[in-house]
Amino acid sequence: MCGIVGYIGKNKAKSILVAGIKKLEYRGYDSSGLAVIEDGVILCKKAVGRISELEKVLDGNCDESNIGIIHTRWATHGAPTYKNAHPHVDCANKIALVHNGIIENYNYLKTKLQKNGHILKSETDTEVIVHFIESYYEGNLEDAVRNALKEIEGAYGLAIIHLDEPEKLVAARHGSPLIIGIGNEEYFVTSDVSAIIEYTKNVVYLDDGELVVLTKDSMKTTDIDSLPISKRIEEIQWDVNQVQKSGYEHFMLKEIYEQPQTLRDTMLGRFTTDNSVVRLGGLQDKCELLRSINRSVIVACGTSWHAGLIGEYMLEELMGMPVEVEYASEFRYRDPIIEKNTMIIAISQSGETADTLAAIREAKRKGAVVLAICNVVGSSIARESDCGIFLHAGPEIGVASTKAFTSQIVSLFLLTMHLRQISGKATDLDKELVKKLKEVPSQVQSIFNNDKKIKEISRIYKDSSNILYLGRGYNYPVALEGALKLKEISYIHAEGYPAAEMKHGPIALVDKNMPVVFIATKDATYSKILSNIEEIRARGGKVIAIASEGDSEISKMVEHVLYIPETVDALTPILSVIPLQLLSYHMAVMRGCDVDKPRNLAKSVTVE
Ligand code: M6R
Repeated sequence: MCGIVGYIGKNKAKSILVAGIKKLEYRGYDSSGLAVIEDGVILCKKAVGRISELEKVLDGNCDESNIGIIHTRWATHGAPTYKNAHPHVDCANKIALVHNGIIENYNYLKTKLQKNGHILKSETDTEVIVHFIESYYEGNLEDAVRNALKEIEGAYGLAIIHLDEPEKLVAARHGSPLIIGIGNEEYFVTSDVSAIIEYTKNVVYLDDGELVVLTKDSMKTTDIDSLPISKRIEEIQWDVNQVQKSGYEHFMLKEIYEQPQTLRDTMLGRFTTDNSVVRLGGLQDKCELLRSINRSVIVACGTSWHAGLIGEYMLEELMGMPVEVEYASEFRYRDPIIEKNTMIIAISQSGETADTLAAIREAKRKGAVVLAICNVVGSSIARESDCGIFLHAGPEIGVASTKAFTSQIVSLFLLTMHLRQISGKATDLDKELVKKLKEVPSQVQSIFNNDKKIKEISRIYKDSSNILYLGRGYNYPVALEGALKLKEISYIHAEGYPAAEMKHGPIALVDKNMPVVFIATKDATYSKILSNIEEIRARGGKVIAIASEGDSEISKMVEHVLYIPETVDALTPILSVIPLQLLSYHMAVMRGCDVDKPRNLAKSVTVE
């Protein structure tokens, strides 16, 4: 959570910092602040609320400096107030620091600092770091940072400046992403590359335990004990347009509409021309290893976990492989059984979700092979896994995950096909399945023709207090995803259930005021779900059905039908989720919610 940008170089820092942090506002947005060195002092400006509030405070201030740090906050310790906003400064107002992550032993450290006379002004865990740096400072910022970090337990991405060393910016990483951008006579520090790709595409990803010292024209990376580390410069593949709204009112809408293209991008270059072979670069030299796998455990959170459930069904149906799907946060604190031939499949859009990262570390410690399905190249999960598949869906900015979800499903499908191939299970069916997969992007495109109708339905139900989402088989995870999408951006209470499970409790909620969204496509469970619809109708519930094109019967049973094209069961979720994404988007907009930055949420949950 939170966002960091730092700058040192030949240009004025303020506009670069503000432009950069605005790109990260989706990561946390309850307060923000900037610090620069100007006129022989540390100038530190903060504001509660969105970054636009900080811009007002900065108007006419902090214009001259060539060095600075900026932060947007998602509160963990201490309310979103002025005094808790970053940057934090030391007692002498000489050091300023921004931090992502959580310092676990901060209570103990705070008491220690207070006993030594430090005055801490905020309720944050972060502030202890800047005071420790102050207490260790003897004329060299980097040494002081190193010593201070030895006191600290927890996760951090840090950027720090010192008044007495105005030509130096120090950054350090442990458990929270940090990237250095390399420009011409300038360097950038950021927690997410989207903040800096306007200025440079050449970056260095810091690893845990690394510290970097930047001047306008030099960069030195070491470990915490000062041992030099040589880093590889990598080139970012995304371009600036991909992180802008391109005329859409919200990132979420843009990302929903991008899906035909992002799905094609996920498939690009991954088949031979006759569709007979699935080629996955990230698994190329792992055939032997993958052949030895006889059980998989999928770990993920939120929407990625829903994609994981779909992956479970695919791997079971098409590979005959036993699969369990675990919330990463639960997996990491249990004593999971990892046998010799168990593979962990970690699914994460950002590649930085703290629980998923911790889960794969735990699994690796127990000897598991870890395969990651990730969107962000260079992310911690991508780098720490043994092999993987990138989504190639481009940056996802809206807090509600949309295009990443559908690309995750495609990636899981590709993985399943690849496993079938290398284990000799492929048949004529496989070519047919790949053909069906290739039709999916244009099928998604055709669903957008229903948007007007989806908007009308949204208008009817936008004031509901509760909505139920029901589905069976492959569409059960879609029901969960539809409910999550709605609640996170519209704040309407929504629950997803397997349709048959409804009789075991949730049906008690159904009356004439309860809209129920059924995903009732013509798949293996179709006749069963029709009975479930009848059960809801008998209790006065209003039914919105997502149904297969050509199903005229269902329209006689329900209030509203949204049709989607037919495909094979395993790929249906990519299509059936589209109307649900749009339904939640429209309802949220109609309710006046900020869909790209819903309250209390952050795009990437980098704390436990
Ligand atoms: O980046 P990840 O895929 O690891 O993120 C996992 C969840 O935090 C994420 O899917 C979250 O649930 C979204 N807000 C859902 O829209």
